[in-house]
Amino acid sequence: MKDQKQEGASQSEESGTGERFTSSGFILAAIGSAVGLGNMWRFPYITGKYGGAAFFLLFFICMLLVGLPVLLAELSVGRGGRGNASSSFTRLGAHKMWSGFGVIIILGAFVILSFYAIVAGWTLHYAMLSFTGQLFENNDFAQQFSDLNGSWMPVFWQFIVLLLTGLIIIRGVSAGIEKVNKIFIPGLLVLLIVLCVRVMFLDGAGEGAAFFLKPDFSKLTAESAFVALGHAFLSLSLGMGTIITYGAYVDKRQSLSLATAAVGTGNIVYALLAGLIIFPTTFAFGLEASQGPGLVFVALPAAFSAMPLGWLFGGLFFVMIAFASLTSTISLLEVPVAFVREKFGWSRSFSVILLSILCFVIGVPSALSLGDKIPWLTFGGKSFFDWVDFVCTNIVLPLGGLVVTIFVGYVWKGGAKESGLSAWWLRVWLFMLRYVAPILVLLVFLYSSGIISF
Ligand code: PFF
Repeated sequence: MKDQKQEGASQSEESGTGERFTSSGFILAAIGSAVGLGNMWRFPYITGKYGGAAFFLLFFICMLLVGLPVLLAELSVGRGGRGNASSSFTRLGAHKMWSGFGVIIILGAFVILSFYAIVAGWTLHYAMLSFTGQLFENNDFAQQFSDLNGSWMPVFWQFIVLLLTGLIIIRGVSAGIEKVNKIFIPGLLVLLIVLCVRVMFLDGAGEGAAFFLKPDFSKLTAESAFVALGHAFLSLSLGMGTIITYGAYVDKRQSLSLATAAVGTGNIVYALLAGLIIFPTTFAFGLEASQGPGLVFVALPAAFSAMPLGWLFGGLFFVMIAFASLTSTISLLEVPVAFVREKFGWSRSFSVILLSILCFVIGVPSALSLGDKIPWLTFGGKSFFDWVDFVCTNIVLPLGGLVVTIFVGYVWKGGAKESGLSAWWLRVWLFMLRYVAPILVLLVFLYSSGIISF
């Protein structure tokens, strides 16, 4: 059995679609998948809610102890198996049950994309309103945000996001995914730095930066630890098959541990910069930092409206989030695309067109469920959008992470070789995968799905 599993790895070396990333292209694409709404929209508001710098530190620790080991595990499964997020498991010699788990993970990615594209659509809408100045015609930003969700506009913008995503990945791994990431990821960094410098000159900015950078440990609770670990997963794009799928396109000579370190560093740097824009701005204009999801769409427009050239900075800010989201939607759509191509032998173009349309269709109820246009789309105290978000982020994602962790920690013996780690690091990695990650991920799952509470 052991030999069979190891053989699985070497047999599959030449298989797969044959599409490959270049080394830098892969690292940028993986950073692109990781950096997204998670860093620019979710991370700031949960950091605001759970106590600023102390929460940031927790997030950082969770990323180091659990996130990065699982990231390396997913990359190893992808490159070792050279299949999609389902077939990679069986190509490595595993029982068919594992590819069944893979199918659930792939479905999760597809459904996550359907609502992720809606939030990405909001950012495009806000960028346009900011550049045209329309955003600042009415100072009630909370009302504007709820008006947007009460309208059909989110459906339109969701369509645009999926259209752009489809147009990019239809061109393939190197001419599409890699090329766009090579432009967007450095471009994003430049925009973030420009905005960061601008914001530092605001009166009172220092107070916001201190809130974000000076830890107050008295604010930490068990809940914040769970939220931090859950966010480490979401933020590194784990548990959804994206990293396995990208891993299959990675050259054998690429160092996976180096790539893991690069993605971890990139993810932290972009989150730090986003925080250093958002908190100083929020504090400088006396806005509430802990207000939740409205932080970016409600608080920041108020700040931009009071700032000289605010329309320009606001527009750039929202375009930047839109860029970051697109590099993540690309990675999410590639997961089911890789699956159907291999499973049914369909062409890339056909698979992309079909799946984009399908994703749009299943996203429409989420997009329409946010206002009160269609009352039956809200049930059990949550809108359809919130349900989809809840099931994917709190249930499918941790379970997806658990599947990979257990597979690499206990089942597949070839992970040690594929990861390329030295003996000492290998021991640390396997320890994390076997003992630390599964327990913590299981706890997060039980906690976030409401099965246990504190
Ligand atoms: N990592 C992305 C973000 O932080 O916005 C979200 C994400 C993308 C999660 C891809 C999962 C995924 F497979």
